[in-house]
Amino acid sequence: MVRLPKDRGESVAETASEVPEPGDMKPVEVAGQPLILVRGNDREVRVFHNVCPHRGARALIEAGSGPALTCPYHAWSYELDGSLKGCPHYIGVSPTGEHGHLLSTLRD
Ligand code: FES
Repeated sequence: MVRLPKDRGESVAETASEVPEPGDMKPVEVAGQPLILVRGNDREVRVFHNVCPHRGARALIEAGSGPALTCPYHAWSYELDGSLKGCPHYIGVSPTGEHGHLLSTLRD
């Protein structure tokens, strides 16, 4: 978890207007941290680290909209709340693991 200074948190809030509709998502960088803004189906804006839990690649390269976020590298997909939706071609122990396997959220 990364904590941002209060003034940086306000920057994220201002940028949240750039994801006005459910399913809108946008990569941003705040205080040197690569983040993703996502407007959920509940209309809440969530902020995730832009790091795919699979192999650490950027999970979102450019802004878009859709029912899920799909990492461009190996196509793991995440629900708009950051929970794992699918992991095609994954062989082995369930990647959900003991604590779940989610895009990690940002807390202030
Ligand atoms: S690094 Fe994202 S699916 Fe593999």
